[in-house]
Amino acid sequence: MNRQIIEGSAKIEIPKEEKVSRSMGVFYNPAMSLNRDISVLLLDSAGRSGMQMADPLAATGVRSIRFLKELSASKIKRICINDYDKNAVKLIKENFALNNIQYKNNPKIVIQNQDANIFLLNSTGFDYIDIDPFGTPNPFLDAACKRLARNGILAVTATDTSALCGTAPKACLRKYWAIPKKDAIMHETGLRILVRKVQLAGAQYDKALFPIFSYSKEHYMRVFFRNDKGKSKSDSVLKQHGMLNGAGPIWLGGLWDKNLADAMYCKALKSSYFSKNKGLMKFLKTIKEESRINAVGFYDLHDICSKNNIKSLLKREEIMEKIMKSGYKACETHFSGHSLRSGIPYPKLVGIMKINKFL
Ligand SMILES: C[S@@+](CC[C@H](N)C(=O)[O-])C[C@H]1O[C@@H](n2cnc3c(N)ncnc32)[C@H](O)[C@@H]1O
Repeated sequence: MNRQIIEGSAKIEIPKEEKVSRSMGVFYNPAMSLNRDISVLLLDSAGRSGMQMADPLAATGVRSIRFLKELSASKIKRICINDYDKNAVKLIKENFALNNIQYKNNPKIVIQNQDANIFLLNSTGFDYIDIDPFGTPNPFLDAACKRLARNGILAVTATDTSALCGTAPKACLRKYWAIPKKDAIMHETGLRILVRKVQLAGAQYDKALFPIFSYSKEHYMRVFFRNDKGKSKSDSVLKQHGMLNGAGPIWLGGLWDKNLADAMYCKALKSSYFSKNKGLMKFLKTIKEESRINAVGFYDLHDICSKNNIKSLLKREEIMEKIMKSGYKACETHFSGHSLRSGIPYPKLVGIMKINKFL
């Protein structure tokens, strides 16, 4: 039995089960609507026109339906939607019909029922590939990297945050070839471990995958990469892998393209649909600000207090103001509500935080 929901411009039939789990009929997670919102905004801001797009792990098809309904028609030359579950493919077709999207005899839309790797490898390549699996994206990275076009965008979700953030360090070593660290900045470290693993998959094929938009949210991490093809560019990616406080190797380069982060925020602000979503707007604004600060890792204010015996914590805004007065940039971070991102050296920040607020 199914029920209907609305997400963005899409009307979607989803299984009636209230509990979101891998074993539900066909998978749909309302908590991932932000993941799909951000994908729409990113493609609207960064994707070129006439793209060949792939949704290899499509489940209900909600993502592709949103792309077709929310992106301008000129953006999409062809969109290929796939799932290995027969019931998912049946539901995808029903959902396309529900949204009045003609998929039969439409050269722009291809719906397939294959293993995702076979689907990707049998294709001639894509300008956008969206890997949105259960758990780790590892099984799909090789085929996705092989079929990613020059200048193409690869989107990767990982939900195995216990491995990436250090609760399951052996799993991290096995799956991501890196040592995680369960500390105050574990979500950024985990995200950077994921970035490096995807980059290693790309580098085998001389594909230099630079992150253009990355984030960690609740139970998952998500990174969008731009494929800048070439041997020397791939070598320059590998040179930016290294350790941070005993964790890693991780990607030590930027996590965002700041022009893109600006453009996505502006697009959302101008949209009657996205601008109403306060959580999304705050998230995009914070990332827009973070993208302007060139720093690996962030400062957790509670952690600094406990490590430095600081009994009275100034407000985060006050601390940021003092940092800026001393000549450094500072902003909030989407990774944590009691932290900030800044290039200020740690001892200077501790000095600022030790100043008694009542003096
Ligand atoms: C997390 S769900 C995808 C959610 C979807 N992208 C969305 O935005 O709602 C993962 C989907 O991948 C499918 N899947 C898992 N392994 C696969 C494989 N090897 N080949 C094709 N589909 C696969 C599952 O049937 C499931 O529908």
